[in-house]
Amino acid sequence: MKGCQSTYYMFVQSGIKMLSPEDVLRKDLKLVHGCPMPCAFVSNWEKIEQFCSRPDDIVIATYPKSGNTWISEIVDMILNDGDIEKCKRDVITKKVPMLEMSVPGVRTSGVEELEKNPSPRIVKTHLPTDLLPKSFWENNCKIIYVARNAKDVSVSYYHFDLMNNLQPFPGTWGEYLEKFIAGKVSYGSWFTHVKNWWNIKEEHPILFLYYEDMKENPKEEIKKIMRFLEKNLNDEVLDRIIHHTSFEVMKDNPLVNYTHLPTTVMDHSKSPFMRKGIIGDWKNYFTVAQNEKFDAIYKTEMSETALQFRTEISSA
Ligand code: PPS
Repeated sequence: MKGCQSTYYMFVQSGIKMLSPEDVLRKDLKLVHGCPMPCAFVSNWEKIEQFCSRPDDIVIATYPKSGNTWISEIVDMILNDGDIEKCKRDVITKKVPMLEMSVPGVRTSGVEELEKNPSPRIVKTHLPTDLLPKSFWENNCKIIYVARNAKDVSVSYYHFDLMNNLQPFPGTWGEYLEKFIAGKVSYGSWFTHVKNWWNIKEEHPILFLYYEDMKENPKEEIKKIMRFLEKNLNDEVLDRIIHHTSFEVMKDNPLVNYTHLPTTVMDHSKSPFMRKGIIGDWKNYFTVAQNEKFDAIYKTEMSETALQFRTEISSA
């Protein structure tokens, strides 16, 4: 990609500082209000905090690797009454910009993309509850939160960090799992993220979904989203949405499988973005010792929440 190969610029208080891509790629995470974030996103934080929502914005919030892209395409299909041609109007990162996305000089930021989009906008984010811009709470915007079991998230995240150059190198799987458990990965602790979103869901219009339920019974879960968005679509349309947003179809769809991004940012030869899309892949990575340690920490971390996850289902 041209912009990535050439030198580019970032505005800083002292004037214009020339940045080379090395300044943001594979760098250590930086703390934003105590939460570790990709270094590339941090220079834009004021704009994120001050983001102006619109009352009809629909936010899709997830911890990373929990199915955000999947739900984004489903919501876009629902809003467009299952019209596949309309949903092919652009790539997913333009149709559903990620609020906190910012790579200085390389791409338009998520905030800028969102400002251009017509209402109702679909907003992707991985932010924890306390970092979501106030405006979304004030406007009572609808939020769909999707949670996925931590073991599969950790495996998916490890592979993502192998291919996504905006993240620090993950190291070995064993090293990565330690960081994941300690919350020393982008967006911090999975435990804190899911618990805080779960706890806040009664106070706001939040539809709380599970990746595992989506896999097991997509029709029922898509109906929940449809009702939440106050849409009424018939069975034929629902079946079309299920097919268009199945893992196999999305994997081959260049508008949603992230192959449109420059390899400088995402290198699919290391691991594809649409990797496996299954439940239980963690069993191929966790050793018995890692699993026992994980289960013990999980038990403590999740002891006081009613949140329940499934790490396997019979039909997945
Ligand atoms: S990101 O980068 O954090 O926004 O990733 P996110 O989209 O939240 O999650 C990526 C994982 O979701 C899988 N995926 C799907 N699973 C089932 N069906 C569909 N349609 C689908 N689309 C994406 C994707 O493959 C990642 O999971 P893994 O386990 O790595 O395959």
